[in-house]
Amino acid sequence: MVKASAVSLGRREFFELIIGGITLGATASAPLSALGQTAGATSIKIATIGAGREGGAIGTLFAKLGHPVMFSARNPDQLKDLVASAGPTAQAGTVADAVAFGEVILLVVPYPAIEEIGRDYGKALATKPLIIDVSNPSAGRDGDAIVKFVADQGGAGLATAKLLPGAHIVRAFNAIGAGSLATDAHRPGGPGGVPIAGDDPKAVALAISLIKETGFEPVLVGGLAKGKYLVPGTPLAGEHSPAEIRKIAASLT
Ligand SMILES: NC(=O)c1ccc[n+]([C@@H]2O[C@H](COP(=O)([O-])OP(=O)(O)OC[C@H]3O[C@@H](n4cnc5c(N)ncnc54)[C@H](OP(=O)(O)O)[C@@H]3O)[C@@H](O)[C@H]2O)c1
Repeated sequence: MVKASAVSLGRREFFELIIGGITLGATASAPLSALGQTAGATSIKIATIGAGREGGAIGTLFAKLGHPVMFSARNPDQLKDLVASAGPTAQAGTVADAVAFGEVILLVVPYPAIEEIGRDYGKALATKPLIIDVSNPSAGRDGDAIVKFVADQGGAGLATAKLLPGAHIVRAFNAIGAGSLATDAHRPGGPGGVPIAGDDPKAVALAISLIKETGFEPVLVGGLAKGKYLVPGTPLAGEHSPAEIRKIAASLT
């Protein structure tokens, strides 16, 4: 559990420690144990935009670690059961509440919603040190137009960056199904891998630290341009060990 009072660091100092503790451009295979201990002793306010199957499951992982988590959606009244099951550090709010609350934002919505979210909250989101983009475009669910838009931008990472100008985006968790998150976290025999992609080294460093806390091994596969592989239907999709992710990523252009 996170012990908020165990380490008397201010939030800015904490973020600087996190960021300073990681070599820029490092992969998640770099030794982060000391950093992980520090991160585990300090709470970060995490907000989810989107609190359905995937947002609910990832937010719950962070809430169970003791981080204050605000789940949000357009209809937060429907999130009472989720909040109750996530535990005492969880609450629900509107998207505006979540944007105001979160130091780190998990973006876990149907992909077309990102345009509206960018329009309404883009400026505020650009001030956050990290936006974890879990959202995937899907022709079947979202329609062909958004899939074409994403392809025209060069894939999901660059497309999200276009919709959220200035935001410090890291794509992550895109290929782990909601039903597997709780069972695969801290799994015996070694952590499952989470491929991640991001352009901003500080955001990547913070994402690495947080994902490690959840019991997965983040593997940086490249910048946001590599986000085109962090969607269903690519070689990186599905569940892989960290070593398998590194091997697959090395074969991708
Ligand atoms: N399910 C998985 O296993 C999985 C795995 C990896 C990635 N993903 C990706 O994660 C995203 C969410 O998937 P999901 O399965 O969790 O979907 P879901 O169960 O349908 O949940 C979607 C959530 O987004 C909210 N939402 C929709 N439009 C919104 C808007 N304009 N502003 C704010 N919130 C909005 C919904 O609540 P309201 O309607 O009340 O706003 C709901 O809380 C998708 O992009 C999906 O591809 C899913």
